[in-house]
Amino acid sequence: MGDGVTGTARARWKASKRRFRAPLLRPAGIVGLGSAEAERLVTNRDLERLVDTSDDWIVSRTGIRERHVAGPGQASSDLATTAAGRALASAGIEPAQVDMILVATVTPDMLFPATACLVQRNLGARGSAGLDIEVGCAGFLYGLAIGSQFINTGRYDTVLVIGAETLSKITDWTDRNTCVLLGDGAGAAVLRPVAPGTGILATYLGADGTGAGSLYMPAGGSRLPPSHRTVDERQHYLRMNGSEVFKFAVRIMAQAGLGALRQCGLHRSDVDLLVPHQANIRIIEAAVSRLGLPWDRVVVNLDRHGNMSSASIPVALDEAAAAGRVKPGDVVLMVSFGAGLAWASCVVRWNELGGKA
Ligand code: ACO
Repeated sequence: MGDGVTGTARARWKASKRRFRAPLLRPAGIVGLGSAEAERLVTNRDLERLVDTSDDWIVSRTGIRERHVAGPGQASSDLATTAAGRALASAGIEPAQVDMILVATVTPDMLFPATACLVQRNLGARGSAGLDIEVGCAGFLYGLAIGSQFINTGRYDTVLVIGAETLSKITDWTDRNTCVLLGDGAGAAVLRPVAPGTGILATYLGADGTGAGSLYMPAGGSRLPPSHRTVDERQHYLRMNGSEVFKFAVRIMAQAGLGALRQCGLHRSDVDLLVPHQANIRIIEAAVSRLGLPWDRVVVNLDRHGNMSSASIPVALDEAAAAGRVKPGDVVLMVSFGAGLAWASCVVRWNELGGKA
């Protein structure tokens, strides 16, 4: 403050800084986790029979060995419902207690209604609010950010955040550039109020729409409504400029991770567990080296699941928790990137699952 500032103005400025830094009245934390695998296991060897590829190429360029793929009658809401049911059970919460359901997905059952409403029906959580979040692979962390706000403000007590994908349904199984990368699955988290100083400490979100053409599905929306021509031209499949996405991912993972840590006043050395988006082992290695974290603090499951887009982080988190890799008080950093191009990160001080604050 300059010399000309009056005592009253200085006091007001100091008071506003105090208000800005005031702790949230109701921190939100993850008190339940669950996940669901799709029906069919597809190995790299299986893919060798579909396209001109090899197990060697896929493992060395991506780290992926196998993935699960939905059956013909299995939709995203089916996987989401199973994951959500398991997350509610692990939290000790009844479906009737759920106030809001957020489903992050780029493969909704239908363009509308929202997959969240279908999950709500399946769970029997009638009356809860429901909406879908479409931010590609970053969708689940966007969901944590959105859901936690409703708990912070006291509007809701229980928010279910789900990442669910059946990417196999929008995969061109003749395109070796994409079909070897993707998998299907779902993961879910139950958010509830938790003790001060624990739970979600920071969320960091962003997007750069100038990169929208790097990863997209051309047809099926209002720009190119479905027609015989769009089907003949295979425009209902995901398209990707792999090297563009790769370069963006390496840069943004470190930036978003450090951004969220800065927001809550933590340092990279405080991170006990990093749960990165599971797209490619080389992206994870580059991001981990930029973040300066030891490898034993990093969760990797892409070898068994491939890239499940918005389901990748919640499934990895669920598996890490089940394996005892995280304990109450630990700092967990989650970082994701994807179509948009968008990114998101989140810092959580871990709570015991089961709703105990
Ligand atoms: N098998 C064998 N060869 C292949 C395959 C394959 N499955 N796929 C590509 N190739 C070939 C290419 O055709 C190319 O051949 P060419 O040199 O004769 O043209 C060669 O391998 C090298 O291709 P690159 O693109 O340079 O390979 P790169 O090392 O970059 O790896 C990859 C490609 C794995 C796609 C990488 O760029 C990547 O992981 N990008 C990021 C993907 C991502 O994270 N996507 C985001 C999420 S997807 C979603 O949101 C659902």
